[in-house]
Amino acid sequence: MSAQSPVRLGVIGAGYIAGVHGTAAAAIPRDVEFVAVADANPAAAAALAERFGWAHAYGDVAEMLRVEDLDAVIIATWPSTHLELIRQCVEAGVRHILCEKPFVLTGAQAFEVWELAASYGATITEAFMYRHHPAITRIDGLLDARALGAIDHVRASFTYVNLASELGIDPKDPNRPWRFRADQGGGALYDIGAYAINACTHVAASIPTRVAAFGRPANEFGTSDKILGLIDYANGVVGMIEASEISDSTQELQISAELGTLYLPFSWTIYDETEITIRRSIPTSHRDSERIFRTIDDRLAVPRSNAFQDQLLNVAEVVRGASAPRVSLAETVVNTFTMEALASSLVAREEVDVAIPPAVAEAFLGASRDRAAV
Ligand SMILES: NC(=O)c1ccc[n+]([C@@H]2O[C@H](COP(=O)([O-])OP(=O)(O)OC[C@H]3O[C@@H](n4cnc5c(N)ncnc54)[C@H](O)[C@@H]3O)[C@@H](O)[C@H]2O)c1
Repeated sequence: MSAQSPVRLGVIGAGYIAGVHGTAAAAIPRDVEFVAVADANPAAAAALAERFGWAHAYGDVAEMLRVEDLDAVIIATWPSTHLELIRQCVEAGVRHILCEKPFVLTGAQAFEVWELAASYGATITEAFMYRHHPAITRIDGLLDARALGAIDHVRASFTYVNLASELGIDPKDPNRPWRFRADQGGGALYDIGAYAINACTHVAASIPTRVAAFGRPANEFGTSDKILGLIDYANGVVGMIEASEISDSTQELQISAELGTLYLPFSWTIYDETEITIRRSIPTSHRDSERIFRTIDDRLAVPRSNAFQDQLLNVAEVVRGASAPRVSLAETVVNTFTMEALASSLVAREEVDVAIPPAVAEAFLGASRDRAAV
């Protein structure tokens, strides 16, 4: 592959999100090109290949991995299938994998991927496209420059209404969509809470030590449709996550800090131009008893961008050795242990400790700065 030729991609899973990646790739043809798709359902693979004009469609993942010469593979299947597909890819020689969120379902599974990545020399990255959006990279720059001072707490919400009754989904249907199946990784925590956990840990830049969760452990599908949780980080930052599939759309990020509070109104699927607000106090005289608290808002305009394209550009740079993945595997392992602890807390109705493997914690902290330090 010359530095100029597009990075050759294959995708496993030909459902909704594979189509989103396909649309994103079509807009940046000099950087990436899909050459193949595999799906357990051959008709789905054939339909996706036809929709985008991709060269090859397979009904068998192993065959695609054997026949195609791929620079990177995107895993776009149900969450419960990710671990085995990652294993299959690295064993077949794939060295760059972008795997959809939620990456895997337990800390032990995430640690297995960590070990696979090390033993095969593979780069394996969770597909949190929002982290590539300029609104988030601008916030990263502000945090790195300590523009808000010491971080105190972070609140991240992802809610939307996803009612089975409105979609006509029957709990007894064995082929119902994965979001309504506990065995495939459905439910609010795994589907959307994963974003909120990712944002809290990314901003805190610290190791979670314990969590407490509240909500509804299981509905008629055996999945949790509502979880609100607290994450206590080693540096004293507290993360607050809100994930619900029975409450209207929110995607708020709030970073509360010594020198101000940062708000991003809609944070994970940003389609249009947006604005980051930083609210700061104006010192007032205590003799002005009517208005002790006064604030001023700084508004930072963020241009429109397609986070899925930005994410694929990062994949291309990583394959070409020009860049590191924006979301590290260490961070994903930390977040998966946190997600599992939140799930346990919801069921047990008590606080749960989070125990991150020391090598992972070291790798994660090595790449982060202590944002709670004054
Ligand atoms: N980043 C985002 O904005 C976003 C949005 C939606 C979904 N997702 C993620 O994408 C993933 C897929 O979700 P979706 O809604 O596109 O699902 P989907 O049901 O629309 O499509 C999944 C496809 O994977 C195939 N598949 C399942 N297991 C397989 C296996 N072992 N081998 C080969 N093919 C297999 C299915 O046949 C199906 O065609 C999930 O992890 C989900 O969380 C991400």
